[in-house]
Formats: sequence, C-alpha cells, structure tokens
Amino acid sequence: MTKTVHIKTYGCQMNVYDSERMRDVLAPLGYVESDVAETADLVILNTCHIREKAAEKVYSELGKLRDMKVARGGDMLIAVAGCVGQAEGSEITRRNKAVDLVVGPQNYHRLPELLKARQSSSKAIVETEFAVAKKFEDLANRPSPQGAVSAFLTIQEGCDKFCTFCVVPYTRGAEFSRPMGQILAEAEKLAACGVREVTLLGQNVNAYRGAGDNGPENLARLVALLSQTHGIDRIRYVTSHPRDMDDDLIAAHASNEKLMPYLHLPIQSGNDRILKVMNRGHDVAHYMKTIDKVKKARPDIALSGDFIVGFPGETDAEFEDTLKVVEEVGYAAAYTFKYSPRPGTPAATRDDQIDEAVKDERLQRLQALINQKTKTFNAACVGLILPVLFEKPGRQEGQLIGRSPYLQSVHVAAPALRIGQIADITIKAVGPNSLSGHYEGAVESHITGAFAV
Ligand code: 5AD
Ligand code: SF4
Repeated sequence: MTKTVHIKTYGCQMNVYDSERMRDVLAPLGYVESDVAETADLVILNTCHIREKAAEKVYSELGKLRDMKVARGGDMLIAVAGCVGQAEGSEITRRNKAVDLVVGPQNYHRLPELLKARQSSSKAIVETEFAVAKKFEDLANRPSPQGAVSAFLTIQEGCDKFCTFCVVPYTRGAEFSRPMGQILAEAEKLAACGVREVTLLGQNVNAYRGAGDNGPENLARLVALLSQTHGIDRIRYVTSHPRDMDDDLIAAHASNEKLMPYLHLPIQSGNDRILKVMNRGHDVAHYMKTIDKVKKARPDIALSGDFIVGFPGETDAEFEDTLKVVEEVGYAAAYTFKYSPRPGTPAATRDDQIDEAVKDERLQRLQALINQKTKTFNAACVGLILPVLFEKPGRQEGQLIGRSPYLQSVHVAAPALRIGQIADITIKAVGPNSLSGHYEGAVESHITGAFAV
C-alpha cells in the first residue's frame, strides 16, 4: 500500500544526505515522498541544532503539526530526527504528546523497526543511542539516486574537538570514519547512475581516518582512490578543520585534477585570545601558514570559511583582527554567524555575553567586507574559460545552470548542451549570485580551473 512521507530538512548538507537515506529506508515500506505535510501519513522534521533558538523553533513547528494531526483525527505519524532530536530526546515527547517518534542521527537505519514498534506501543518511541558504525553499514545498501549529477557522500561523522560554542560533539558524538571500501563502493554505485561529482561530507572531514586494506588511511589517500572511480570527474570535501589540514591533502590539490580547487576552512575568529577561549586548538599564524601552503599548491584555489562575531568577551579590537584575516586571505565565499549561546556548551554560561546591537553591527561590517572579496574573486573570472558541470535547466528556454570548479553557479544559454556534461565556458559577466558565460563549442574538457587557461 502506498503511503506518503514528508521530510522537512534543516541545516547542513549532512542532514540533506541523511534525509535522502531516510527516504531510501522507508521506500520498501511503501512510502513515497510528498511535498506537503498536511496530507502526509508520516512527517519527519530533520532538525539542526546549530541555528539560533533551534529547539524552540522545533517545538513551535511541532505545535503546528499537532493541530494538523488533530484535524485529521490523529491519522498522522510525527517524527523528530536530527540534532535537536538527539539533544532533547524524551523532553520532546513530554512537551508534545502528538510526537510518535524521536530518532537521533545515528539511528536512521532503524526507522522501519522503530515505526513498527510505535504501532504496537501506546507510548512514543525515543531512540538516541550512538551507533554510527551500524548506521553506515546498513545505509550502504542505499538505492541509487535518479538523475543527479552531483551527490553528497558522508565519509565521517562526529567531532572530538569541543569548541566551546558548538553542540556538534554532543549531538553527533565522537569522530567516526567510514571504512574506505564502503565509501568506494558507494561512489561506484553513484557513478553507475550518472553522478559525476561527489562531495565528501564530514563534520571534520579532513580528520578522516578510515580503515583501508593496510590499516587507517587519510583523506588524501581516499581522494586518490576515489579519483580512480570511472565516471567520477569531480571531488569536493567539506568541512575541514585547520588542525587536520595535512601536507598530503595539500599536495593532492596540486597533483589531482579531479580534486576541485575549493577549500572551506573555517577559522571562526582572527584573534588568538578568542581562538583560545573558543578552544579551537590553533592560532592565527598556524591558519595563515596553512593557507599559504594551500595557495602555493594550487594558486587559483577558491577559499571559504566560517566566522563567528560577538563571541563572549570579544572586544572591538579583537573583532577588527577578524577583518584583517578576511582582508589577507581574500575569500571567494564565507559564512558569517552571530554568536548565540547553545544550551550545554561551555561558552553559553559565560557572563560576558555581547550585546545584540554590537553583534549586529559587527556582522554587517564583516559581511560587507566578505561580499567585496567575493565580488573581486568573481570579477577575476571574467574572460577565463572554465569547465562547467551542468546540473539543471535554467529559467529561460535553452538555458542551463552548472558549477565552475570554484563552486560558482554558472548560467549559459546553450541548447546544444545537456545536463551532466562538462563543457568549457567563456565567462562573460558576473551577477549578484552567479556568473554567466558563452559556450564556444568544446565539451568534455577534463582539465579544471586555471590549469585550463
Ligand atoms: N553561535 C554561532 N555560530 C555557531 N556555529 C556553531 N556554533 C555556533 C554558535 N553557538 C557556526 C560555526 C560553524 C558553523 C557551522 O556554525 O561558525 O563553523
Ligand atoms: Fe563544532 Fe568545533 Fe567540532 Fe567544528 S570542530 S564541529 S565547530 S566542535
């Protein structure tokens, strides 16, 4: 019998990947995906704890779902997945009696049995054990995606770093790396159904130490083996930690043309005292040295990062140091956050919290500077010929949208091209969020970025 499931996904790419896997494990039970919650038999909120007031927002969303469920005479299952599910656990079912199931990120492979258990139980089910190895073993049997050109592939989960502002070590647990064989098999499967680009995911992706044939291997080795997968032409990875950016990985950026010239390497703050109280385990000099090495290995690399403004106790001068880093590194893109206290983290209980108005002002200044840097990076691409991997149709007839090696969105009017092709595109103009270019005829260049010009 066909049933419908509506999955609402919040937060990072890892949640996007997990939502796809939840859809996969539910398919054999007859569940097909639906865009609307109102009529769905099962609604899953795949939540994120990084957002401000994350838990409260989930409770308010659950209030709306409860009303829907009541309007349908109770004929609806409600599940809470993701990091808020993990962090709040049975508090959720205590506060909202309409919730049937709370399931932490390590337990999605058990969804079918948990839903069954719910049917024969008068009480809601809460499953928040940490069982990450088992999760990946079971999810490795995922069905293949249909029609995707680019896919996420989780290779590592969890974090042992304990930055004082962050909930991830508590919600995703300790660092765990999937065995290499499992990842390579998944990549083969993706390639067989037309995927040409994989983005390797992990909270600390470059801390990867997965079991290989001869013991643990690092990310550089995994990338080297992955790039031998026939059909996979582009490899990306996110998110990296500065402490784990080893020389092997940096060297891979120089030698492996399938490894895209893009690096997301968060520093969070440009001030050593703040980095210390954030417990980041590196200082500004270490970060800048790493950036230098990466730029030497791949001079055209697009750099990106995360920044937090208004960490407790941050002075004006300390904030200015963050601007200096942005100025010096010259990011192609970056994500900015106002510090917000997360329950259970050490920084949340500090008594030197920064005024909201000050945080707002710092955020605006930082964003303005980053926008300027992004513009500069994009403007430098005008006139270059970049290999673009086409992912989807554009709004206009005959238009396609793809990605440059630097992760920029590129719009091209080229009826002769198809989704899934890589074609050399001459970049002609820069828009607010994308580039546009012309197709001059050459398809299937396997050389990327500035190496091609
Ligand atoms: N406040 C603000 N930003 C945060 N991040 C993580 N925790 C917090 C917090 N408590 C940001 C960091 C991280 C990104 C994913 O989210 O910059 O790199
Ligand atoms: Fe959070 Fe720090 Fe771990 Fe990143 S490294 S997930 S910011 S604790």
